[in-house]
Amino acid sequence: MTRHVVVLPGDGIGVEVTQAAITVLKSVAQQFGVTVETEEHLAGGASIDECGLPITDEALQACKKADAVFLGAVGGPKWDDFPKDQRPEIALLRLRKELGLYTNLRPVTVFEPLLEASSLKPEVIRGTDILIVRELTGGLYFGVPKYCKQVGSEEVAVDTMQYSTSEIDRIARVAFEAAALRRGKVTSVDKANILATSQLWRKTVSSVSQDFSGIEIEHMLVDNCAMQIVRNPKQFDVILTENTFGDILSDEASMLTGSLGMLPSASLGTRGGLYEPVHGTAPDIAGKNLANPLAAIGSVALMLRYTFKMVEAAQAIEAAIQSVLDDGLRSADIAANGGNVLGTDAMAREVLSRARRTCATSQRPTNIPAA
Ligand code: IPM
Ligand code: MG
Repeated sequence: MTRHVVVLPGDGIGVEVTQAAITVLKSVAQQFGVTVETEEHLAGGASIDECGLPITDEALQACKKADAVFLGAVGGPKWDDFPKDQRPEIALLRLRKELGLYTNLRPVTVFEPLLEASSLKPEVIRGTDILIVRELTGGLYFGVPKYCKQVGSEEVAVDTMQYSTSEIDRIARVAFEAAALRRGKVTSVDKANILATSQLWRKTVSSVSQDFSGIEIEHMLVDNCAMQIVRNPKQFDVILTENTFGDILSDEASMLTGSLGMLPSASLGTRGGLYEPVHGTAPDIAGKNLANPLAAIGSVALMLRYTFKMVEAAQAIEAAIQSVLDDGLRSADIAANGGNVLGTDAMAREVLSRARRTCATSQRPTNIPAA
């Protein structure tokens, strides 16, 4: 069987971590009898430099046709002063909107060997396992009107926060279904004491919750949630929230794991899916083989699980990530307490060799004992 993946390395460390992750993806998928064919396109600043716009229609069409899309990261200081409709981030927003990717899943898993890498106390974060379900195609990011214009002697800017019942309903269902496979609790985060969109959000989520009687539902204001994430993160199972709150809370929650370099993500719609690490392009370390590839590698594991339904292959990669950490192997960002510090490529090789071992074991016919 062959699967077709469009690869958008993007900018900065996006390029390095993408290479690492795609190597792992191809090799592990092959072990499970699936050939992954890749087609690379420019996105973000790289596309602006080469083609004059953040993503070309050709690249977008290729993404629409693909079984899945992998994206490294986009952006960088070089393009920071570009007009807002020509910035690298537009590539990501167009992909999300035009591929209909309204669900963003961001699992936040605290690995025991990395407890010391976090700025929070080990006893606070130990055992934390949160799934952030972020709405991805609505809210302030896409609402209109959106403008900045001269009014009299000064400039005035407007963004519009807008949500409809159907947009809230469909993402709420994703969260409740995910919670049913986890610990059975959804915390829906809003600002219902102030925002009209949040009042509709709360009303709609409450109504969807009636269809999931076994799942506990709790509503929390976003400011309180920001505080609770660092006070007692273990209280959370699934956090369901809108686009902007999800953007902010997921960066905050990443610090529970010690580094933004640990967080994978999956953006899903009705078909396909876009997989990307949550981190940015880290221009300061780009091209130096220093970047942590684990979020990118974790993202290809999510691709195997959610789009290709290859759960064992996904588990082999996730177990391999756990194993490199157990063995004290670290990229620079998670080396607070020492350990054997590896570069991007070497870290990817270590993950891959462990994943291959797991694949070999899980695929061994049952009558042949393990060595
Ligand atoms: C993220 C990023 C993006 C977002 C940027 C790069 C547009 O911060 O995926 O969290 O704001 O959604
Ligand atoms: Mg973000």
